[in-house]
Amino acid sequence: MIQKAARLGEVKEYYFSRKLREIATLRSEGKNIINIAIGSPDLAPPKAVVEEIKKAMVLPNVHQYQSYQGIPELRAAFCDFYKNNYNVSLNSNTDVLPLMGSKEGIMHISMAFLNKGDKVLIPNPGYPTYASVTKLVEAEAVLYNLNEATNWLPNFEELEKEDLSKVKIMWVNYPHMPTGAVATKENFRELIAFAQKHNILIVNDNPYSFILNENPTSILEIEGAKEVAIELNSLSKTFNMAGWRVGMVVGDAEIIKTILQVKSNMDSGMFLGIQKGAVKALKSSKYWFSDLNAIYTKRRKLVWEVFDALNCTYDKSIGGLFVWAKLPKGNLAEDFTDKLLYEKDIFITPGTIFGTNGEGYIRASLCVSTEVLNEVLNRLETVKIK
Ligand SMILES: Cc1ncc(COP(=O)(O)O)c(C=O)c1O
Repeated sequence: MIQKAARLGEVKEYYFSRKLREIATLRSEGKNIINIAIGSPDLAPPKAVVEEIKKAMVLPNVHQYQSYQGIPELRAAFCDFYKNNYNVSLNSNTDVLPLMGSKEGIMHISMAFLNKGDKVLIPNPGYPTYASVTKLVEAEAVLYNLNEATNWLPNFEELEKEDLSKVKIMWVNYPHMPTGAVATKENFRELIAFAQKHNILIVNDNPYSFILNENPTSILEIEGAKEVAIELNSLSKTFNMAGWRVGMVVGDAEIIKTILQVKSNMDSGMFLGIQKGAVKALKSSKYWFSDLNAIYTKRRKLVWEVFDALNCTYDKSIGGLFVWAKLPKGNLAEDFTDKLLYEKDIFITPGTIFGTNGEGYIRASLCVSTEVLNEVLNRLETVKIK
C-alpha cells in the first residue's frame, strides 16, 4: 500500500464528513433525523441570478477556459459591492481576486505566504479549516483564546506574552463563526495596530457580514489596514449561493498578485455562467438583505425556543447565521449533542469542533425552515430527554 504524505499526519477527517456518514446510516435504518447543525443556506439565490446562468449557457465562449483573474465584469462588481456596502475603494484590476468560495482562499493564502515552521495565529473557537490548512502546509498553528469574558475578541495582552517573532499570519473572522460576535471599528483598529507592531499579515474572513448584522464592516475600512490586512468574502451566505462556490479575496495589489501566483497554478478559471450569475447577485438591491434577514429573524426566535427547551443560555443581541448557546452546567458538548441525536433524532453542532474553548457550548443553524424548527420543538416537548 502506498504511504500517505506525512503532512496528513495531523489532519483528521472533518467532523461533519464523519457525522453525516453516521446520520446517513441512521436514516437508512429508518430514523427521521433533523439536521440543524450545518450552515448551508436552504433558501434560493435571487431569481435574476438563476436566470443569468441560464442565459449564459448559450454564449459561444461559455465552455472555454476563463481568465485566471475572473471576468472584468465580476471584478468590477466585487469592487462596487465593497464601495457600496463598506465604503472601501478597490482597484478592480489589481486589488481583487475571485475565488471558488472563500474556503479555497484559506489554502491559497497559506501556500502563498507560509514556509515550513512559520507560526500562524488561529482563533479558538474558530473555523476548523484555518488550523487544518496550516498543518497541511507544514506551518505551526498557534491557537489564541476567545471567550465570553472578552466578547470573543482577541486578548492582546495575553497574545503579547507569546513569542510572536515567527508569526506570519493571523486569522480573524468577524462577524465570528461560531459565536456570532462582531468586531467594532475600534476592535479592528487594535488588530491593525497589533499587526503593524509585529509584522503580521491579518486575514479577516468575512462571509457573515450581512446575516442579522446591522453594521456590516470590512477590516479594510480602517486606515492603514491595506498594508497589513486582506479580507476574504463570499457569496455563499450573503446570496444563498454556497454550492455555486463564489468568493473573493481583496486587499493590497502585491499581496493579491502573490495569491494569484498560487491560484493560477491550481485551477483554470471559474465557469462563465457562475461568474455572470455572481455579477447579478452582487448588484442586488438592499431589499434582498432585508427580506433575507426577515426570514432569519423568524427562524432565530424558534431556535431561541429550542435552546430554552434545552435549558441553554444565549445572547439575544448577537447575530449571524447560527445561534451559539451555553449548555447547562456540567454538560460536555459532544455528549450532549450525541444524546440529542440518539434519543431525539436531532443533529446539532457541539462547540468543541471549533476548538477547546467551544467546550460547554452548542451551535444551531438558521438554515432550516420554521416548519422543521417547530418539529424540533415538538420533539423536545413530547419526548423527554433521559
Ligand atoms: C468562517 C467561515 N469561513 C469560510 C467559510 C467557507 O465559505 P465559502 O462557502 O465561501 O467557501 C465558512 C463556511 O461555512 C465559514 O464558516
